[in-house]
Amino acid sequence: MTLLSLQRNLPVPSVQELASEPLDAVPSRYLRDDVDDPVSNPCNPFLQIPTVDMSKLLDAESQAEELHKLYSVCRDWGAFQVVNHGVADELVKSMKEKSRDFFNFPLQEKKRYAQKEGSVEGYGQTFVNSEEQKLDWSDMLFINALPYEDRKYNFWPDRPQGFREALDCYSGEVKRLALSLLGFMAKGLGLEAHKFSKDFEDGLYHVRMNYYPHCPQPQQVVGMAAHADFTGITILLEFDETQGLQIRKDGYWVPVKMLSGAFLVIVGNIGTVMSNGIYQSPHHRVVVNSLKERLTIVTFCYPHKDAIIEPAHDLINPENPALFKTLSHAEYFNLFYSRNSYYDEPWFIDILKIDA
Ligand code: OGA
Ligand code: NI
Repeated sequence: MTLLSLQRNLPVPSVQELASEPLDAVPSRYLRDDVDDPVSNPCNPFLQIPTVDMSKLLDAESQAEELHKLYSVCRDWGAFQVVNHGVADELVKSMKEKSRDFFNFPLQEKKRYAQKEGSVEGYGQTFVNSEEQKLDWSDMLFINALPYEDRKYNFWPDRPQGFREALDCYSGEVKRLALSLLGFMAKGLGLEAHKFSKDFEDGLYHVRMNYYPHCPQPQQVVGMAAHADFTGITILLEFDETQGLQIRKDGYWVPVKMLSGAFLVIVGNIGTVMSNGIYQSPHHRVVVNSLKERLTIVTFCYPHKDAIIEPAHDLINPENPALFKTLSHAEYFNLFYSRNSYYDEPWFIDILKIDA
């Protein structure tokens, strides 16, 4: 099998191991000279990412107003926090505990789940396809949680006890939330809910657990370089409101301050395509700090394998022509993986445009 460029996935050292030793200097593969100032818009330094209330979307009386908010937030930011989302606190707590326990195991234990060549699934890092490339200051465990037939349980840690059960339950709940959100995102555009949600009912839900160790040179290092997600939507959980994620808006980085118990939702490139460019898929990145590690659990939501990725037909008319190509699932992913770099221009969304 010949691998497409981004499928190559070269192995890299565990950053958690690096950071656990007394470090005088960060190895040069992690040092960047292009980490610009992580301050938000000087004209609006307190700008905060908006919050959408799921209970208001579900209540007939408040729905219209909250739908309008959801629509404008997806249009102007392509990201929001969601509260009253209905995912049980206990489950979230258990999922966090199990992932933290996993990362706290010795390297040998984690390596039992190490990625295999040509696949991102497992313990390691993603999108490393050159020895020269700058590296992110993080480790991850990546698991294809849904659909069931895609599960490879050899990548599901059997320790700590209860990890598998928690992930099974968590992925089901996050999927339920995703379907509901996608339905409302369609409604916000004046479409029937299922126009967006139906392709995600048997969709792909890939869970990535990220561990960002503390870093002695946070100004020259990033936890995750700037990128847009190539999902429909992404649903992110941050542990302990540690901070570090920044969203690009109007040319500035806006630090995300998570509300306790909320999820962050990020619209991905497929979300932009389905909305024919009305919903943004923002760039975002992770900065690191010198004191404390940071953990997140990120669920990438994609349509099912027979879905067609294209703008919703009801949004297209002579005044609003389709801006993006019509692609099969396989064409979309092949196009993605054949890029030389995830982190450089041309951005994937521009490749998806009809005139590209
Ligand atoms: C990602 C991502 C951000 C974070 O995994 O695509 O953007 O805060 N993660 O972990
Ligand atoms: Ni992302």
